[in-house]
Amino acid sequence: MTLLIVGGGGREHAIIKKLKENPNVETIYALPGNGGIAADAVCVPEIGATDIDAIVAFARSHAVDFAVVAPDDPLALGCVDALHAAGIPCFGPDAKAARIESSKVFAKDLMQKYHIPTAQYQVFDAPVEALAFLKTASFPIVIKADGLALGKGVLIPRSYAEAEAAVRTIMEDRAFGDSGSRVVIEEFLTGPEVSVLAFTDGTAIAPMVSSMDHKRAGDGDTGPNTGGMGTVAPNPCYTEEVAQVCMDTIFLPTLAAMRAEGCPFKGCLYFGLMLTPDGPKVIEYNCRFGDPETQVVLPLLRTDLLTVMQAVENETLGELTVEWRHASAACVILASGGYPGHYEKGKAISLPKSLPGNVTIYHAGDKLADGQLVTSGGRVLGVTATGPTLRQALQDAYAAAETVDFDGKYLRHDIGRRALAALAD
Ligand code: AMP
Ligand code: GLY
Repeated sequence: MTLLIVGGGGREHAIIKKLKENPNVETIYALPGNGGIAADAVCVPEIGATDIDAIVAFARSHAVDFAVVAPDDPLALGCVDALHAAGIPCFGPDAKAARIESSKVFAKDLMQKYHIPTAQYQVFDAPVEALAFLKTASFPIVIKADGLALGKGVLIPRSYAEAEAAVRTIMEDRAFGDSGSRVVIEEFLTGPEVSVLAFTDGTAIAPMVSSMDHKRAGDGDTGPNTGGMGTVAPNPCYTEEVAQVCMDTIFLPTLAAMRAEGCPFKGCLYFGLMLTPDGPKVIEYNCRFGDPETQVVLPLLRTDLLTVMQAVENETLGELTVEWRHASAACVILASGGYPGHYEKGKAISLPKSLPGNVTIYHAGDKLADGQLVTSGGRVLGVTATGPTLRQALQDAYAAAETVDFDGKYLRHDIGRRALAALAD
């Protein structure tokens, strides 16, 4: 079979490595892919992930049997709709269903209408109204740009002065682009955060192993928000009891709500949850695999990934048992110094000649320059280890991270610390 993956980060690399385990897979094209992915797939750097016309033309001319659209932008732009229109089976939601991520207002209104637990909220189109509301609000409070903002469009002011600055940053300075033309202002929730990715064909759902992201740049959850500096799976806070509550009050109601709205969700639905004192609540939905959650979740998948993805596309997921390894995984991101702010690119990457069997390095932000791998993004590599315990997985991931080098290499040193503490409780 010939497969095509849209995207070029660590998440896509993890998907590709897993798809390659299927013996029927002969060729995988990655559009655009990256330097490290080139070792596992045929990369096409000329075709960007949002160039929908070029993606469809490529899929047609290369006899692609199945496509996977991984990033949020092409999903929101209708890449799956366009591939389907060209008769190419693929994995991912159509543009209407992708609104669950691309519009926070759509997602919040859906949850309110269908009684899915989430933070109380209000929507504002104009800064004056937002500021008038904030005058009487209590702090901290959460302000979110409506549209896609690379996971960075969320500000949590602790006073009116900070809130005023936040509204101006989002709505007037448009720090997150046009996604800031509307804001959602919502109640500040507390509790452990859990990421649950789930395969769904619109009706049946197969939640993946739970995980925990580490979004802040610095140790001890300090510094600015990033796309994610490391992950562990499973998340020890996500017990079987919590999972059952989430299934009954969040997962199944969300699928039913999307069907009722005329946009059944097919693909990977990501539930960003907070386990509050009042029970689990939705912080955000993503219409795709998380990054770097995928780098710890997919290595634990026992069932063939292509089979699962085809069952989603064919709406037969309910007939399949999706199995997981009873093990742990940890991923440590190696970033360019300065990320998520300004950072330098083009630094030569040195990788170890061989890695232990339980360690995989996923390439996120690099490229080949004259045959040499060099850095080309903020998050450069994700070093993942699996192990019988989380402690072992973390130890092996950190040991492997030591053996990789590039100028300005930056990593957090406390990935998994909170998870280990929760396990000790
Ligand atoms: P998001 O981009 O929606 O994932 O939000 C980024 C981070 O902001 C989340 O991972 C949470 O830590 C935090 N956050 C978002 N919404 C809330 C909320 N209502 N209460 C508390 N923290 C929140
Ligand atoms: N790691 C969070 C995300 O993929 O949005």
